[in-house]
Amino acid sequence: MNNKLIVYFTYTNNTKSIAEKIKNELDCDILQIKTVIPYSTNYEVVVNDEHNSEASNRLPEIEDINIDLDKYDTIILGTPVWWYRPAPAIRTFLTKNDLMGKNIIVFATNAGWLGKTFIEIKKLCPNSNITNEMNIVFESNSSKLETSISDIMNWIDIIKEKS
Ligand SMILES: Cc1cc2nc3c(=O)[nH]c(=O)nc-3n(C[C@H](O)[C@H](O)[C@H](O)COP(=O)(O)O)c2cc1C
Repeated sequence: MNNKLIVYFTYTNNTKSIAEKIKNELDCDILQIKTVIPYSTNYEVVVNDEHNSEASNRLPEIEDINIDLDKYDTIILGTPVWWYRPAPAIRTFLTKNDLMGKNIIVFATNAGWLGKTFIEIKKLCPNSNITNEMNIVFESNSSKLETSISDIMNWIDIIKEKS
């Protein structure tokens, strides 16, 4: 049996919209990572606050996940790209939870500058089997997709078949 869990963080709901599409197709469990201290609702403030390297290396505390990760063989991990990296809350999640031996399927939403996002996720999960990375591009500061919906649905079909 292959139990899949979608784990994602979102700030402006782009990553959430993709996570929910995957959930609709795969009918699997889903977990939204939330920071203990919510980010400002002012987008520009968050973009600027996260810019300097001190801020972008800081790992925010995240809410308890209350889910037994041992039950899942495959984690479908979704992150927005923040300053060319996985969002800090996802880095906290990967630092706090050992995903050794699991399959990890990663998708990153961004405005076209993926940077080192996938490389960094690999470094944070050295003992996991990372496959099927998917870069999903939205228009800058918008919920309008640039990546075609058919590319996304094809990718979801592929991960659906993975056991
Ligand atoms: C703090 C911050 C930094 C960002 N840095 C990047 C970046 O380096 N490259 C990029 O393409 N988009 C960047 N973006 C845009 C987001 O990655 C993009 O809008 C993403 O789809 C947002 O996902 P969400 O709606 O799930 O939060 C940044 C957005 C924020 C808020």
